[in-house]
Amino acid sequence: MENDELKESRRDSPQGDLGTAPYGNFRCYYSFNPAEARLALIPQNLLYQLFPETTTSLAILDVGCNSGGFAVAFYQHVCTCSSPVHLLGLDLDPWLISQARSTNSHPQNIRYEQTDITDPIHRDAVLQDFLGSLGREPGPLDLSLCLSVTMWIHLHHGDAGLKAFLAWLSANSRWILVEPQPWRCYRAAGRRLRRLGQAEPPALAGMLGRPRARCDVKAFLCEECGMRFVKSFGDTTWGRPMLLFGRNTRQEGEEDQDEG
Ligand SMILES: C[S@@+](CC[C@H](N)C(=O)[O-])C[C@H]1O[C@@H](n2cnc3c(N)ncnc32)[C@H](O)[C@@H]1O
Repeated sequence: MENDELKESRRDSPQGDLGTAPYGNFRCYYSFNPAEARLALIPQNLLYQLFPETTTSLAILDVGCNSGGFAVAFYQHVCTCSSPVHLLGLDLDPWLISQARSTNSHPQNIRYEQTDITDPIHRDAVLQDFLGSLGREPGPLDLSLCLSVTMWIHLHHGDAGLKAFLAWLSANSRWILVEPQPWRCYRAAGRRLRRLGQAEPPALAGMLGRPRARCDVKAFLCEECGMRFVKSFGDTTWGRPMLLFGRNTRQEGEEDQDEG
């Protein structure tokens, strides 16, 4: 058991000293979790598969975009579909957003804003401004990416905060690609912060004693948020699944996909 936990801890902290990063706001995240490893799981024609009929701009949100390494790589990976793609990356860490802006190789198509996604007023204003800049009325985004972020929201805002975020994301997205962190990551995050002499995230202690009561991202999206699980693109090299969800109302041109 102890060995397993040590192994998990190393796998989740492969680089050793990650800084404190209490919100997962690691400053060199993409040096130890390269975007390419995850993109290898995602088909290049993903947007064509999801929006076969669309000719207008597609609006994509990247929640917790860190320094933009995945956002740019994802944009380049999928932007060959016929419609123009516009991506909004949000992160609560101002330093990471400034890094993302200064290295943005596609400023016409990718935009970054410092936003706490759990702050309803700010996030909605930023989102409406983004959609307005594309000439779109308020309404759902075409696709939202939520990669390795759910645990941090969960740890800092508890079950209620994670559920409120997932409900908001579902109400505002036609499709969601989520990479939830499994439970072993929670323990590793708690251990890492304790090792660094940092306070444990507020909700962690409450979750330790009641594993069955914890919010399960996949179940909550499907049972409470009107989403349906479409497919898993497989596990990343860190053993985290990449899960695609779609709104329950069938989209135009959408075909049945692997529900397994
Ligand atoms: C582990 S990193 C994942 C980065 C990126 N999504 C990826 O997978 O490549 C988690 C990111 O989520 C951000 N984050 C955590 N809580 C957030 C919140 N409430 N609002 C916005 N960003 C948040 C952190 O600052 C950090 O950059």
